[in-house]
Amino acid sequence: MFYNKFAKFVAVLCCVCFQETCTEEYKPNWASLDARPLPTWYDKSKIGVFIHWGVFSVPSFGDGFLGEWFWQFWKGQPRPVAVEFMKKNYPPNFQYADFAPMFTAELYDPNHWADVLKASGAKYVVLTSKHHEGYTNWPSINSWNWNSMDVGPNRDLVGDLAKAIRNRTSIRFGLYHSLYEWFNPLYLKDKKNMYTTQDFVRTKTMPELYDIVRRYKPEVIFSDGQWEADSSYWNSTHFLAWLYNSSPVKQTIVTNDRWGKDTLCKHGGYLTCRDHYNPGVLQKRKFENAMTIDKGSWGFRRNAELADYITIQDLLQELVTTISCGGNLLINIGPTKSGTIAPIYEERLRQMGQWLQMNGEAVYGSKPWKYQNDTTNPHVWYTAKQGGDVVYAFLFQWSQSVTLRSPLASSSSATVDLLGGKPSLVWMPLKEKGVKIEIPAWSNAKWVMVLRLTGFAG
Ligand SMILES: *[C@@H]1O[C@H](CO)[C@@H](O)[C@H](O)[C@H]1NC(C)=O
Ligand SMILES: *[C@@H]1O[C@H](CO)[C@@H](O)[C@H](O)[C@H]1NC(C)=O
Ligand SMILES: *[C@@H]1O[C@H](CO)[C@@H](O)[C@H](O)[C@H]1NC(C)=O
Repeated sequence: MFYNKFAKFVAVLCCVCFQETCTEEYKPNWASLDARPLPTWYDKSKIGVFIHWGVFSVPSFGDGFLGEWFWQFWKGQPRPVAVEFMKKNYPPNFQYADFAPMFTAELYDPNHWADVLKASGAKYVVLTSKHHEGYTNWPSINSWNWNSMDVGPNRDLVGDLAKAIRNRTSIRFGLYHSLYEWFNPLYLKDKKNMYTTQDFVRTKTMPELYDIVRRYKPEVIFSDGQWEADSSYWNSTHFLAWLYNSSPVKQTIVTNDRWGKDTLCKHGGYLTCRDHYNPGVLQKRKFENAMTIDKGSWGFRRNAELADYITIQDLLQELVTTISCGGNLLINIGPTKSGTIAPIYEERLRQMGQWLQMNGEAVYGSKPWKYQNDTTNPHVWYTAKQGGDVVYAFLFQWSQSVTLRSPLASSSSATVDLLGGKPSLVWMPLKEKGVKIEIPAWSNAKWVMVLRLTGFAG
């Protein structure tokens, strides 16, 4: 009896304290928000898939410019290639908005997408909820007749993917969101007023950001389109304080650094700094290398050629160099306007998944080692096991033997194994420094070979 009463008392006390700290923990300023520790799932995940999909997937054309920027390069800062493309292929009065009914997504099968993503080995996915064109891939009440329910697919594209991902996989669901919209009259008015008015933020950006969090409970928000105005204009710190203190995803949400022109590479959650950010040296703060399988675009391009797509060899090297320096890799695909994932994207994702089946131990849950790349061999990069006496060496090239200069055997009982292979390779310490390892003929390693070194120091 006493025990029960006591337990109840403690429970009430706990809840009150808990709520109090929760609602007041983070203040709407960068010093406070930056102090929030990144939820641990994010670093452990290492790999996400980025998906750029929208009305831009209809023209799906980019020639020397990014495909998802088509509207801007046709009407905003016109480029001859885009203007010519429209003149040649569409009637004279054709408007960008006329592409929207052609965004049909009739072959969109979110369960299939979920299966492909799962096969890739990625642990999170980030879908464009709205890009700079302003069209929302969900039925936003703040985007009248410029959303996927009213025009085009007549479907909640975001919600349907969220459901499929959560039903079939353990992948975390995330959303990309652009703060600015190139041609929104309210945004252009605020801009003309030198951002002294915030009508666009009050009636569009913020209501929609809160809406996607409440509806879809994303665990990543990849913010973008921040660079023209300060975070004070975007009201970003107020949104983030709510997100971290009282939103339905306050425990697990992870965000990036694109919250105003004053924040990039500085404030927020993890750092993105720039697109394709792969610094090549160890970083103090968690970063994400957001990169593309089509090297020339985030949105699908019908005019892409085979050589425009990154090879599996280069993709894996990008992954390894990124995680060696403490980053995550966010790999972008661009689905078609019909809702299909082109086979070349599917192939890259499945190849990565196949490689991870054998070598995932050296990736997920790893941490940077003392050395990121070998001191003398430029084709070797390293990670280390979290809380263990193990170093992983990733070989981008190999022959019958390989010489590593950075790892030093602590004793003669140190071992070297090939991931996915039989145990114990033959090795010998080098007089100068380092170790020479025999690579057996039976090795079935592909693209990037991974060695597990146990009992070695740096
Ligand atoms: C959930 O996934 C299973 C297969 O894993 C499938 O049979 C079922 O239809 C899915 N449910 C929904 C609501 O999509
Ligand atoms: C900014 O956020 C605060 C806190 O939610 C709110 O009171 C204020 O109205 C917001 N301003 C704009 C322009 O959205
Ligand atoms: C590799 O390591 C060396 C030092 O060991 C360093 O100078 C170099 O910048 C590193 N990075 C690359 C990309 O080679």
